[in-house]
Amino acid sequence: MTEFDESERLIWAGRGEAYAASFAKLCAYPVAHLLDAAGVGAGTCLLDVGTGPGTVAAAALARGARVTAVDPEPSMLTLAARTAPEAEVRAATLPELPFENGEFGAVVANFVLNHVGRPRAALAELCRVVRPGGRVAVTIWAKPPAPGQALLGRALAAGGAVRPPYLPAGPDPDEDFPRDEAGLGTLLAAAGLTDAACATLRWDHRASPEEWWSAPAAGVAGSGRLVRAQTPGVRAGIKRHFDMLSKEFTDPDGLLRLPHAALLAHGRRR
Ligand SMILES: C[S@@+](CC[C@H](N)C(=O)[O-])C[C@H]1O[C@@H](n2cnc3c(N)ncnc32)[C@H](O)[C@@H]1O
Repeated sequence: MTEFDESERLIWAGRGEAYAASFAKLCAYPVAHLLDAAGVGAGTCLLDVGTGPGTVAAAALARGARVTAVDPEPSMLTLAARTAPEAEVRAATLPELPFENGEFGAVVANFVLNHVGRPRAALAELCRVVRPGGRVAVTIWAKPPAPGQALLGRALAAGGAVRPPYLPAGPDPDEDFPRDEAGLGTLLAAAGLTDAACATLRWDHRASPEEWWSAPAAGVAGSGRLVRAQTPGVRAGIKRHFDMLSKEFTDPDGLLRLPHAALLAHGRRR
């Protein structure tokens, strides 16, 4: 396990509910596009990797798919079992999945490859477990981040947040890849997928300022762990800057309108 993987285990530990109440709603946007890209319909034998609270798994069940959903984090598995009761829900961690070669008709991972220390190895594993001719589809966040996505990072910087050495920002440089259409598309092609393609999805996420702050305040995701790593004084400063900067995104109804951009890539196993 890389240092980044180790820090990711801590980021999600016990945070299923806090994620479900906040960032999971943001991550739900691409789900229909992701399932379309993977060709998921009635009867598809689907593996949803990094299922979190089971949003993708539930949407696939609603299409009539047979679903296996995996995640390393127990608090996520509890939620996924509730959200997608007809799915087989079990623990598993990329880059090693406890499945046979070609066991699934399609494999998806919604905002998961951006949480692994060895993205190439993780993608190779997704490809291994899909049958020849089956589709793999993944999403990750695009870089540089869209303005709504950059809000928390700007508040952290303005509040003087310092990244502790035990909290790597991403994979080691020799494991990393450009988080743009070409970068992710090339990663899929290099994994041996044919017809590999990548497109950018853009949408405005709407949330109250309280909901948006609730995730980092609870330590959810990388931004949350960084907030939690600060002294109480710095944390209070970050929150002050968040309140000020949020005004740029506040609609007359009081909700934030946060532009986001994600990369959706898919390909077919030869
Ligand atoms: C941003 S959440 C996405 C959850 C879900 N796919 C969704 O759409 O809401 C990232 C998820 O990936 C899981 N995860 C992190 N590292 C992983 C790994 N190495 N293998 C599989 N899942 C992982 C986390 O536990 C978390 O549930």
